Amino acid sequence: MLTLAIIKPDAVAANKTGKILAHLEGEGFRLRGARLLRLSQERAEDFYAVHRERPFFRSLVTFMTSGPALAVALERDDAVSHLRGVIGATDPAEAKPGTVRRLYAESKERNAIHASDSAENAAREVAFFFPERDLV
Ligand code: CMP
Repeated sequence: MLTLAIIKPDAVAANKTGKILAHLEGEGFRLRGARLLRLSQERAEDFYAVHRERPFFRSLVTFMTSGPALAVALERDDAVSHLRGVIGATDPAEAKPGTVRRLYAESKERNAIHASDSAENAAREVAFFFPERDLV
């Protein structure tokens, strides 16, 4: 099955992209799509629409539009839940040792990586960045 990850602007700016991809490959994920992009305000608001009413929404959109990010479609058995485990808790201070966020995130907002949280959201989020023709 496929899931969607975004290596966020903080991690791309800090030159952590390669290390994070290596970590994911080491967990058995195979790359099926990859796009380096800068989200527009409108696209970031649409992607995070479920968080629209949260107090951190405006700040999250500002952060996610602040620079390039790398969207990747990843394939593995049990991809959604495995990737959630590999990235760790939203707040790096609470993430388990060895998780991507514990290793590379700066803060609860600037937390290095996004991963889909359900099979339903994975399907939506993969399609958000990758038309069928762009998946290998
Ligand atoms: P992500 O997994 O991409 O999903 C929503 C994002 O909002 C989350 O990672 C963080 O970047 C951000 N976020 C979640 N909770 C907070 C919070 N309490 N304060 C600031 N940012 C948050």
